Parts: sequence; structure tokens; C-alpha cells
Amino acid sequence: MATDYIVKDITLAEFGRKELNIAETEMPGLMALREEYGDSKPLAGSRIVGSLHMTIQTAVLIETLVALGADVRWASCNIFSTQDHAAAAIAEAGVPVFAIKGQTLEEHWDYLDKSFMFPEGPNLILDDGGDATLYILLGARVENGETDLIETPTSEEEVAVFAQIKKRMAASPGWFNKMKAQIQGVSEETTTGVHRLYELVKQGQLPFPAINVNDSVTKSKFDNKYGCKESLVDGIRRATDTMMAGKVAVVCGYGDVGKGSAASLAGAGARVKVTEIDPICALQAAMDGFEVVTLEDAVSDADIFITTTGNKDVIRIEHMRAMKDMAIVGNIGHFDNEIQVASLKNHKWTNIKDQVDMIEMPSGARLILLSEGRLLNLGNATGHPSFVMSASFTNQVLAQIELWTKGDDYNNDVYILPKHLDEKVAKLHLDRIGVKLSTLSEEQASYIGVTPEGPFKPEHYRY
Ligand code: NAI
Repeated sequence: MATDYIVKDITLAEFGRKELNIAETEMPGLMALREEYGDSKPLAGSRIVGSLHMTIQTAVLIETLVALGADVRWASCNIFSTQDHAAAAIAEAGVPVFAIKGQTLEEHWDYLDKSFMFPEGPNLILDDGGDATLYILLGARVENGETDLIETPTSEEEVAVFAQIKKRMAASPGWFNKMKAQIQGVSEETTTGVHRLYELVKQGQLPFPAINVNDSVTKSKFDNKYGCKESLVDGIRRATDTMMAGKVAVVCGYGDVGKGSAASLAGAGARVKVTEIDPICALQAAMDGFEVVTLEDAVSDADIFITTTGNKDVIRIEHMRAMKDMAIVGNIGHFDNEIQVASLKNHKWTNIKDQVDMIEMPSGARLILLSEGRLLNLGNATGHPSFVMSASFTNQVLAQIELWTKGDDYNNDVYILPKHLDEKVAKLHLDRIGVKLSTLSEEQASYIGVTPEGPFKPEHYRY
């Protein structure tokens, strides 16, 4: 058993294993990949550093990567999202994992650093939100003399990452550039991380190929949407036990996560309003039956506010000042900067329980803030159900195989998996829920310009 881990309590491993066994029955895509590739071990020789919420579902992903031959080290990508029993089960199984629910920001970057510590360093990154990629690229820039970066941190997050970079540079000079040179690729899980990758390409700073897993149809149109549809209300309920029916909820953003979040609240009986900046998404929200408003107009009447934008400063201090007493405020987007939490720091905070705080505003009105503005479905509940994560993570494993076995075919750019693999991921999830596919005849297939085996849609089709 590895002693190379940091978890809350290793005795939780047995509980973790029991839940992992149940999750496997709901993750047919991952289990099918174990079946298909367990003998040929296409990931043999790979050393994967993973930075992704350390949940039960991720544990099934990790064990799939290991079953396919990979050597794996893991950290969570969020300070509140770890499920300690999942981390314990993975540590007990011998995979080095560094993740505790409620770890500090300093620990977050220290644990990420530890996940890179293969004796020979990693050669692949599996990222969620881009922190692992950012750590190496930012560290390399600082090593190369861009020390002005370190002198001007603009947030607690930056202070923490730069402190860790300094520590690593002192302990192993040249380490970041060495890592940057030997990483053969990254697969990225989420919208926000993908955004960071495309920015790097624009700046000519992406040093290895990247696969954008988020924009596989079987990821963003399922996990972001149907996943949030189940996990948003779960998080709010576990945090507050508030009656949802009849309440007025505002969802900021109507992309994939916003669509799932609005559906989640509506399904629970809330009266949902949506804010958007994009006329197409605003029109979609309206035609899905939601009132589309500005936050300024809705702020004083609503009971629940949820940000889903991947943008910053969406709920600002002036909004929170105008909210009514006991309004619930939370975010389900990747980073905590959607809500101006820092501006509340000098107010009176009362901790209700882990990841639930009550904040007294100068007017005397109180707010209930979930997970300090970090993604609440993973902070206050256990994230998306296994079944939808199976689709996401099947894409992740296919992306890792692609990068490891065919990496040389790719330039230092961002790629999406080909449509036949996207369709394969979907197909692997049909049996479990009793879906029966119809089959095209040769004549029908040629009439719509495809083959009976697929791909069934042109690249420009939007689902
Ligand atoms: P998206 O790009 O599809 O949707 C974001 C929407 O927000 C867009 O329609 C955009 O027009 C809108 N928006 C941007 N600024 C706005 C503003 N100031 N006010 C109102 N609307 C605004 O992105 P997606 O896939 O929905 O992801 C959103 C965030 O959620 C990202 O940070 C992503 O990484 C994260 N995410 C979180 C998950 C979770 O389980 N918590 C799962 C998947 C993604």
C-alpha cells in the first residue's frame, strides 16, 4: 500500500470502496473501456497527473486509467469538492492521492505540486479547470525570469500559487521547464479550463497538444446540462433544507450549465428567472418558458441566486446589498469569482455548518452563502450522479489514449475528439437505461448522406 498520500482518514477506505462498487454499476462507459483495453493496456508507460474533483466517480475514472496501464497521481481541483471516503479508497488501492474536503488554498497548490512528483515526472495531464496546466506554465515563466508576475498577485489564489511556485523553484531549480518539456499533452474537462487553453493558443504559449473533452457532445450537452439538473438542487437542499416550491430563483447564465440549473430549480417547483448577455441564449431561455430579466430588476424580489456563467463579478456587492433577508446565494460555475465574495469579508460571518455561512449586511439583512462561492453542487453535495460522469470520463480516457498513442500526430493546438468516438461514448450508455436504437437501411443512409454505422451528423450539427 502506498504511504504516498494525503487524505482525511484512511479508515474511510472501506466505505469508499462500497460506494465505488455501486458507482461502477452506473458507469458503463468506463467499465466497457476496461473490458476493451484491459489486456492491451494502451496507457502502459504513461504517467498521468490528474487534477479533478476527487469524488467517487473520479475514483472509478482513476481505476480505469490504471487498468489500462497508466501510472497515476491525483489532486482535487477544488478545495471543497473532495469526498474523503473516495480519496481514502484510492489511497488504499495504492494510487498516490492528495485531497481533503476543506483543504486550504495553500494546501490546494501544495497537493497539486505533490501530484506531479513521479520519480521521473509525469508525461500527461488530465485537468479540470486548468490548474495543473497553469501551474507548470506559470512556473516556467517565472523560472525564465518573468518575476514581475510574482510581485503583483491580485487575489488570494494567486498569492497561494506563487508561494508554491517559489517553494518548488527553491527545492528543484529548473523543474518547471523540465516538466513543460516532457508533458506530451493535456485533456481538459470543463468550459473554463478549455477557455484558458484557447487563450494560450492565441498567445502562442501552448507547449503541447490539448484535447477539449468539454466540447464532446457527450460531455457538455450531458454533464453540464443533465448533471446540473440533478446536482444543483441537491446542493441547495443539503445546505439549507429550504422549501424550493414557490420560491423565486434567479439563474445567471443560460449556457449548458444554466439550462440544467434552471431546469433543476423549475423541477423543484421554484419560479425561475434567467439573466443572459447573449441574445441567442436569452431567446432560448424565454422560449423554454423562463422570464429573462436583468439582475438589477430581479434582485430585491428573489429568494435564491445561482451563477452559472464562467464569468467574473456577476453577482456584485451592490446586488448583495439589495437582496432580501435570508436570500440564498451560490455558484455552480468553475471558479468562485462569479460572486464578489471578497467584498463580504469585512461583514459579520456566522458559520452554520461546513460550506454554509450566514452573512450580515450593513442593512441588517442576512445572506446565506454556499461553499464561499465555490461550485456548490460539489461543495454542498456530491456533484453529478455516476451515470452522467461516466459519459464525461469515457471521453477523458479516450482523450488520454489518443494523446499517449498518437500524440505525435497532433500540433500544439486544442482538438475535439472525432464524432465517431463521441457517438461511441453515447452508445456505451444506452443498454444501461434500456434504449433501443433504430438502424438505417443503406437507402436511408445514402439519402441523408451518412453510412448506417455513422457518424450520423455533419460536423456543423449542434444537437
Ligand atoms: P456556457 O458558455 O455554455 O454558458 C455560460 C453562459 O453564461 C453563456 O450563455 C454566457 O452568454 C452567459 N454569461 C456570461 N456572462 C454573463 C453575465 N455577466 N450575465 C449573465 N450571463 C452571462 O458555459 P457552461 O458550459 O454552461 O459552463 C459554465 C461554467 O460552469 C463554467 O465555469 C464551467 O467550467 C462550469 N461547469 C460546472 C459544472 C459543475 O458541475 N459545477 C459542470 C460543467 C461546467
